[in-house]
Amino acid sequence: MTTSKPIISLQNVSKIFRTDEIETHALSQINFDIQQGEFLSISGPSGCGKSTLLSILGLLDVPSEGSYLINGSPTENLNLDQRAQLRCKSIGFVFQAFNLIGDLSVFENVELPLTYRDDMSKAERKVKVALALEKVGMDHRKRHFPGQLSGGQQQRVAVARALVCEPTLLLADEPTGNLDSKNGEAVIQLLGELNQQGTTICMVTHDSRYNDLAQRVVQLFDGKMVDEQVPIHPMAANQ
Ligand SMILES: Nc1ncnc2c1ncn2[C@@H]1O[C@H](COP(=O)(O)OP(=O)(O)OP(=O)(O)O)[C@@H](O)[C@H]1O
Ligand SMILES: [Mg+2]
Repeated sequence: MTTSKPIISLQNVSKIFRTDEIETHALSQINFDIQQGEFLSISGPSGCGKSTLLSILGLLDVPSEGSYLINGSPTENLNLDQRAQLRCKSIGFVFQAFNLIGDLSVFENVELPLTYRDDMSKAERKVKVALALEKVGMDHRKRHFPGQLSGGQQQRVAVARALVCEPTLLLADEPTGNLDSKNGEAVIQLLGELNQQGTTICMVTHDSRYNDLAQRVVQLFDGKMVDEQVPIHPMAANQ
């Protein structure tokens, strides 16, 4: 166990969704830290709050109560602009449905997050995109469009897009949910390799097979953290 300061810290985080008549306690009093270089997996039944938790970690939503700190700095008092900047700089997101833009080439999809930054020239962007595509083994398809790729290839491109800003944390919400088992395993293996190279990953998965790759599994049930397990497997033993 490392004693360094966590890069991510959730302190007593609760999330309540209020619609006309119903109040849903999606998350209740969640506490956990993520250390630099960790691979954390979040598991639990449908509706238990996994995506809500990932949205908060990804600065796409805010807690109703509690505190979320990135690199020791609280995030709750940031305005929309500051949140967007921090998200751009610190968070990479991989979704179940890939969410690539169909009218943009593979290269342009991966380049897109960099175009929101005003501190980077086109030439610098080109180098970063090439590196990210190389990392996921998709540089040979950079002129293709998403519709011309298999599901597994699209998800690899989505991983490259999430990585291109060199985020503090890579979040993945059911990244294998739309893939057959062969492509699913390949994407998980890719995440494992990226983690070995130093990327910190927090992944939600229904499939308990994939938990084996994580160093820590957080179990959610009805919005509460019920268990934390450390799987025993070769990759974790090497850390
Ligand atoms: N925007 C919202 N407004 C109201 N209720 C919501 C909203 N988002 C989520 N919820 C509710 O919060 C609870 C947790 O939802 P969440 O999407 O986090 O579950 P999940 O664990 O990701 O489920 P799944 O495994 O099916 O993806 C559910 O009861 C859901 O109906
Ligand atoms: Mg979900």
